[in-house]
Amino acid sequence: MNPITIVSLFVYVAVTTSVILPELHVIKRISFKYPYSCQPGPLSYEGCALFITDYGVSRNMPDLLYNGACGSDNFFEVMLAGDDFGMLSDLGDVPLENVTASKAFNYENMAGQDNRFFNTINVVKGHTYAALLAKEEIRALFVFRVESYEKSGAATIAYAVKQYGVIQSVQEAPGFSWVEPNH
Ligand SMILES: *[C@@H]1O[C@H](CO)[C@@H](O)[C@H](O)[C@H]1NC(C)=O
Repeated sequence: MNPITIVSLFVYVAVTTSVILPELHVIKRISFKYPYSCQPGPLSYEGCALFITDYGVSRNMPDLLYNGACGSDNFFEVMLAGDDFGMLSDLGDVPLENVTASKAFNYENMAGQDNRFFNTINVVKGHTYAALLAKEEIRALFVFRVESYEKSGAATIAYAVKQYGVIQSVQEAPGFSWVEPNH
């Protein structure tokens, strides 16, 4: 093995062995104190974000953010930094228990009835959502339901993780940009 391979192996092992991964398909709950942009004091993710793993906590990289300015409607978002990609879908008032990985994309399992995914999505009490993460370090699918919600105030969600991976990119094309057009 050349030194670079050895170093990469070491980094890979160091990252993966230290992460406690979530148990899939198990419903858990988290309460948010306030939306991110309507918190007292300096902006922090504490009290307004879901971290599925301690790895996310250590990187200050939440999996879901409860957001919205004071007095405005509140929304969820998952694209929080850099070249993070992620999408959210509002499945409506359906039981969280019923949402499989397959139903996260097409609840009715019918051609032409695919769930619609958005960059940000409004918080609605009693609605169930699917979140897809395609970040540099995280690939995940999780579903959640808003159990309680107060505009500009607290909210509680129940959630279940359907897939979660701390991943490592093998190679990436340089030059990613959010605004670069094509020629
Ligand atoms: C949820 O699943 C149960 C059990 O399979 C089923 O009876 C019920 O109709 C489902 N509800 C919805 C809204 O899909």
